[in-house]
Amino acid sequence: MSHEIVLTGIKPTGMPHLGNWVGAIRPTVELSRQAERQGFFFIADYHALTGLKDGKQLRRFTYSVAAAWIALGLDPDRIILYRQSDIPEVFELSWILACFSPKGLMNRAHAYKAQVQKNQESGESDLDSGVNMGLYTYPILMAADILVMGTHRVPVGSDQQQHVEIARDLAQYFNRQYGRDIFTLPEALIDPASAVLPGIDGRKMSKSYKNYIPLFDAPDAIKKLIMRIETDSSQPGDPKDPDSSTIFQLYRVLANPAQTESLARAYASGIAWKDAKEELWARFDETFREPTRRYQELMANPAELDKIFAQGADKARAQASRIMTKVRRAVGTR
Ligand code: TRP
Repeated sequence: MSHEIVLTGIKPTGMPHLGNWVGAIRPTVELSRQAERQGFFFIADYHALTGLKDGKQLRRFTYSVAAAWIALGLDPDRIILYRQSDIPEVFELSWILACFSPKGLMNRAHAYKAQVQKNQESGESDLDSGVNMGLYTYPILMAADILVMGTHRVPVGSDQQQHVEIARDLAQYFNRQYGRDIFTLPEALIDPASAVLPGIDGRKMSKSYKNYIPLFDAPDAIKKLIMRIETDSSQPGDPKDPDSSTIFQLYRVLANPAQTESLARAYASGIAWKDAKEELWARFDETFREPTRRYQELMANPAELDKIFAQGADKARAQASRIMTKVRRAVGTR
């Protein structure tokens, strides 16, 4: 195998925000540009269905997440970009892997355990309340995504590490049973540099706290959010501490070292909060102006995205069917 296969899935559950960009999109796009790797990137639309039961929304998020990743530098001519639902081999393998998954392994998976704990805390008598089988077997579908392409590395956030380990376990059970190395054993690739960003209220930037800065909103709306970032009560002229300032933490991820250095000096000499926010807005606008244009262009032209998905599905299915031929022969359905 000449190229190392790098694969990751993106769940289409909403518009990406600045925290997603710093923590996931930017490092993954950089990785996708490395010549010695073959990248597989897909929109995990059937994973989203475990929680999202609105067809219109799921369809819209699928396009908008793909458009966002392309606008931010993922190049569909270099990597393989596809929709999970376009690859029937994934769902076939998912069943086969389910037959190798001890039930207890699923009991220990994070998303399921979190729901059980929530039920416990709320005094719910049925501890499995709110758990559908899609959520329960989520890690099996994810293992199929990974193993069906012969993946070596899976760039993910640390919350997904357990799922990649489950995929590896299932691959090992299978290989052991059939005495052959049919599946490549995948490894999670966790970017240590992927920082956690504060949101406009200073807590971790997150959809659930509603404190995030979206990437592709109208400029006025984004500027308004930036002007609302919480600060302490120090006045213009008072020296300010960059390390405890949300504005500074956000600025740093958008700026080059010289710019960061210069804002740190401005903090020491008492820059007004309002001016610091203006500086942050300028960096944000410069970084995302062109991607926003490209994003809007793609969203206005879904036929272009459909073409990209179709091309990606062709290439991804070619790879998947090579591996599935071996799998079917091993289990005896062919
Ligand atoms: N579970 C991942 C998430 O929520 C998305 C995902 C689905 C994925 N299949 C995958 C990630 C395969 C990596 C590999 O973020």
